[in-house]
Amino acid sequence: MRPSVNEAVGRLGTEGAFAVLARARALEAAGREVIHLEIGEPDFETPAHVAEAGIAAIRAGETHYCQTAGLPVLREAAAVSLSASRRVAVDPGHVLVANGAKPFLFFTILATCGPGDEVIYPDPGFPIYESAVRFSGATPVPLPLREERGFSFDPEELERLLSTRTRLVILNAPQNPTGGVIPQADLERAAVAIERTPAWILTDEVYSRITYDVEAPSIASLPGLLGRTILLDGFSKTFAMTGWRLGYAAVPAELVDPLTRLIVNSTSCVPPFAQLAGVAALEGPQDAVVEMVAELRRRRDYLVPALNEIPGLRCVEPGGAFYAFPNVSALPLGTDELADRLLDEAGVAVLAGSAFGSHGTDHLRISYAASLENLERAVERIRGFVAGLTA
Ligand SMILES: Cc1ncc(COP(=O)(O)O)c(C=O)c1O
Repeated sequence: MRPSVNEAVGRLGTEGAFAVLARARALEAAGREVIHLEIGEPDFETPAHVAEAGIAAIRAGETHYCQTAGLPVLREAAAVSLSASRRVAVDPGHVLVANGAKPFLFFTILATCGPGDEVIYPDPGFPIYESAVRFSGATPVPLPLREERGFSFDPEELERLLSTRTRLVILNAPQNPTGGVIPQADLERAAVAIERTPAWILTDEVYSRITYDVEAPSIASLPGLLGRTILLDGFSKTFAMTGWRLGYAAVPAELVDPLTRLIVNSTSCVPPFAQLAGVAALEGPQDAVVEMVAELRRRRDYLVPALNEIPGLRCVEPGGAFYAFPNVSALPLGTDELADRLLDEAGVAVLAGSAFGSHGTDHLRISYAASLENLERAVERIRGFVAGLTA
């Protein structure tokens, strides 16, 4: 008899960015030149003092197993940081540390949801939300983000989707893939509606420090909401630490033990030297973050008007993160073919909006975590390609 694969694995989705990166790398291996605007990671180095703290920790022998929930010193530093930035009292005992923010998405869903439950999540949104919900056996319920609302949701639509079956509501701001933020008034309406249901809230705030002029308020800051909220943040984006695999969350008391069990059953713990680098990131000088955000703003301020000048493209100005999400529905081909042909024919790697859900199909996601020079070259190539389509 042939051994078989668990059918649940077939319900897992994937991340389009990694697939497009692989295709782009194959083209490069064949001698083509590609401008990379597909991947969601800062093109900056981890700040030197943070990297040095990690190296010093390795030299000091911090290379063994450690506490599953995270080193107390990092849980404490994360609690201080979350308390100050979200203006709520976060108990260090409720802070958990994992290998990036991503495991918290998967583990929160596994710990709270199963068949018969519904999970509301943003669409377009980070593809792992829907993937993990399907894996858990729960029913994914997409909450459309509206371009005309700066890619926030319509609170009335959220109210209609909520029910006693809703076990979890996932919010994300600043948002991937749109760069949208959720206005305070909409969060307040959402909170009132969610409190009438038995739903937990997972607020994915990994881009919290990357905003331009606007505030990205947190639902966890609203009175009484922290008790049902998984407040998720991380190091990947803020400190350009994607490869260190380090993230943290403040979680409700009832979820501390279940989530710790999921961590001990999967990864045991996060390498202690990475955690000590995280302490240096949170407690040390923040100049590198300020400089990175200023540079990202320069790029956004170039890219968005430049995209809007290309006939057939319409791009809302993103308030945060480092993605532009232009509407391309006026062009004579769909987003999948457009993204494929931009890569194959123009050498520009971007993502089709469809990779983020059915409400993304009119869009492309363009990461501006790339040099201004490369953004200018990419815009020229996109302009030329679009001109060829409509000529
Ligand atoms: C919205 C969102 N959440 C979570 C993550 C995962 O981040 P980490 O590297 O901390 O696992 C990403 C990464 O792209 C993201 O865009």
